[in-house]
Amino acid sequence: MTYEKALEKLLPAGQEHLLKYYDELNDGEKEDLLSQIEALDLSLLDLLKDGVKEVPKGKLAPLGAVTLAEIAEKREDYERKGIEAIQAGKVGAVLLAGGQGTRLGLDKPKGMLNVGIHKELYLFEQLVNNLMQVVNKTGAWIPFFVMTSEKNNEDTTAFFKENNYFGYNKDYVYFFVQEMAPSVSYEGKVYMEEKGKLSTSPNGNGGWFSSLARAGLLKTMDELGVEWLNVFAVDNVLQKIADPVFVGATMDAKCECGAKVVAKAEPNERVGVLCLEDGRPSIVEYYEMTEEMIHSKDEKGTLLYNYGVILNYLFDVKALTRIMNEYMPTHIVEKKIPYIDKNASLVKPEEPNGYKFETLVLDMIHMMNNCLSFEVEREKEFAPIKNRTGVDSLESARELMKLNGIEL
Ligand code: UTP
Repeated sequence: MTYEKALEKLLPAGQEHLLKYYDELNDGEKEDLLSQIEALDLSLLDLLKDGVKEVPKGKLAPLGAVTLAEIAEKREDYERKGIEAIQAGKVGAVLLAGGQGTRLGLDKPKGMLNVGIHKELYLFEQLVNNLMQVVNKTGAWIPFFVMTSEKNNEDTTAFFKENNYFGYNKDYVYFFVQEMAPSVSYEGKVYMEEKGKLSTSPNGNGGWFSSLARAGLLKTMDELGVEWLNVFAVDNVLQKIADPVFVGATMDAKCECGAKVVAKAEPNERVGVLCLEDGRPSIVEYYEMTEEMIHSKDEKGTLLYNYGVILNYLFDVKALTRIMNEYMPTHIVEKKIPYIDKNASLVKPEEPNGYKFETLVLDMIHMMNNCLSFEVEREKEFAPIKNRTGVDSLESARELMKLNGIEL
């Protein structure tokens, strides 16, 4: 793209400030900036035109879960089915580690956080330990796909390598990089990170399967015979990965996806709840629920909208392939975005200062024909590290890890 073409693209969108420092750049930097502008998806900025709105929901109805008691009764059967599938190489694990963890405010990938107290124990390491429990039980290496972003790929891959993959078989570890999207100010102006660099951020965790495909890993999965993918977040340190009981139950229910859920701690808990939307599985956010939905109970006294998702899903690869090119809504999310100010000095804001554009894995659930809602014990499987202090922090996660006998 030439300078003139770039200006032609930017002017109607009010984004010509991106060329402000063009004359100060060397030839290589100029070329690089022009390619970034060429790749810039201006249609995303149109989403801001009518103000930031959430995608309206269809008709919502409750969806029960297979409960802890029901799972306990059929546990052996489910587990046997799951183990067989894992031993046949049918189950892969996908770690979503492309996020920036802006709430925690680390300057390195979240998975490199040391959660130990008296010894070093990294988040990535603990997740591998969790996965190793299943490897040891089944005697099978589970293909382990790790999604990173441009921002953290180098650090992440180097960290795994330096630490000898935390004891995992490196032949079964596959890294792939997700896509980026521009970050904008509240006025919709694309921020700049450097004089020759637009500010971009990972485009959410919803594109994980298409990024996996773009990286050529569908062929690898095909060769390995992977039919199911268990996708999970980097920051839930207690998470069970490729849990044979969950795998067996989802297969047994003949569902094309399964979601691990926990019963709400109280009606107003700020979690996304698995339910039905226009007859299909869906996740309703706490702020999208009416007072009536929040408090309604069934005849046994259980909340109708009771089961919160914990970002641990199992998908049938056939269903993922079917929806791969379907439309997914883009969410506009307020975040802290580093940028260069009028004097070209880098500012790292303490408070949110603009928007990022993200697609979300939870929207994939609504694209599935059905979903098994699978209840798990919160104290045993849910210890997310999202915030610096208080709820869902390193401190709260450490308490839960100790309760589960993990040496820190
Ligand atoms: P979060 O929604 O908690 O986002 O991600 P985050 O970026 O980690 O943290 P904040 O909101 O900026 O503080 C949930 C999971 O999805 C992954 C994260 O790494 C985490 O495992 N994720 C998120 C991606 O892989 N890519 C993204 O673009 C966003």
